[in-house]
Amino acid sequence: MTHISKLPDVGTTIFTVMSQLATDHGAINLGQGFPDFDPDTRLVEAVTKAMKDGHNQYPPMAGVLSLREQVCRKIQDLYGHSYDPVSEITITSGASEALMASLLALVHPGDEVIVIEPFYDLYIPSIRLAGGTPVIVPMDAPNQDTSIDTKQSALNNEIDDDRTYRIDWQKVRNAITNKTRMIVLNFPHNPTGINLRESDLDALEKIVVDTGVLILSDEVYEHIVFRGQKHLSMCVRPTLAEKSIVISSFGKTYHVTGWKVGYCCAPSPLMAEIRKVHQFMVFTVTSPMQVALANFMEDPEPYLQLAAFYEAKHDRLYQGLQNTKLIPVPSEGTFFLLARYDHLSDMSEAEFSRWLTFEKGVGVIPVSAFYQNPDARESNHGLIRFCFAKQDHTLDEAIKRLMTL
Ligand SMILES: Cc1ncc(COP(=O)(O)O)c(C=O)c1O
Repeated sequence: MTHISKLPDVGTTIFTVMSQLATDHGAINLGQGFPDFDPDTRLVEAVTKAMKDGHNQYPPMAGVLSLREQVCRKIQDLYGHSYDPVSEITITSGASEALMASLLALVHPGDEVIVIEPFYDLYIPSIRLAGGTPVIVPMDAPNQDTSIDTKQSALNNEIDDDRTYRIDWQKVRNAITNKTRMIVLNFPHNPTGINLRESDLDALEKIVVDTGVLILSDEVYEHIVFRGQKHLSMCVRPTLAEKSIVISSFGKTYHVTGWKVGYCCAPSPLMAEIRKVHQFMVFTVTSPMQVALANFMEDPEPYLQLAAFYEAKHDRLYQGLQNTKLIPVPSEGTFFLLARYDHLSDMSEAEFSRWLTFEKGVGVIPVSAFYQNPDARESNHGLIRFCFAKQDHTLDEAIKRLMTL
């Protein structure tokens, strides 16, 4: 019997491919986004305790209530919005499940969903599985001069709107038709490391009011925002909160990407639909982890200190890369940083990334992997992505290797 694939263009994700390549060649893996250090021992001990205390059976479908209450409190404290833990917050199997469940629940066959390019690789296949049509709106990408200007202003610690990549909201508006159901956003942005400004929220607010589209907001890097900037969650403004599904991940916040626990917040009519999918996709999420996370979240310090922790790693890698022939581009958030190489080589981003892994022993991700057509000329800007969620000695060793470029 022949199979007609529902996702004919999907292969193994670039993150898995590049990680395997790094392992095969003994390279330092600064590609895939996961920490190479352990989480807080108190959090690990809290899981063991939760198991010993008998939290080993199915928790409620929407998640352990005390964890939902902690998420509610945190959002209230940081962003000033009140979600109802009972009907508006659901604990999910990572941000990934929250994203997929939201798309499956809210996108109907024939609906259009706007995705900003470059984009995280989960969005497009998930929209397709929901029967939707992805409509790609590219960000304005940097040329060589803008990234160097940005580097200068970052060194002078000036944070004005000198972002390397930008969303042109007029282009987003132009892409909206009477079939548009949703816009997918991801800020702080993987892979570019840019954040939103209030002016972006102004533009979004107008779009939402004029068109009624929903926003699927992937905010997994919400706590990793540098140089005193504030994360602008979609729930900071009531007009946006009303139309948004806000998603985050404990994996990124507490250095536990392998636990695959995240959450999803939305106004109750939207959440009721999302839960219908969640209930049949996974039903619920691992109970001891949820109980442990609920206890750990009582202390806000770990997530409040995360930005400073990662800012130091950002600066270490950034300054180290300045001693190499690569030109680093500063990030405003996330645990990623881009670097420019196009003054060194004509290779495509994918070829250069492979070459770095084989020849220099440092695994990275081509930024073109976050484009619909990675091989196209327009998707290649001479940029590679480094992950700095690594121990200092790992970063130092990678820099040492890159100094031989
Ligand atoms: C932008 C973005 N969204 C979602 C995810 C997935 O998060 P989780 O591991 O919690 O499913 C990632 C992980 O790298 C990510 O970078």
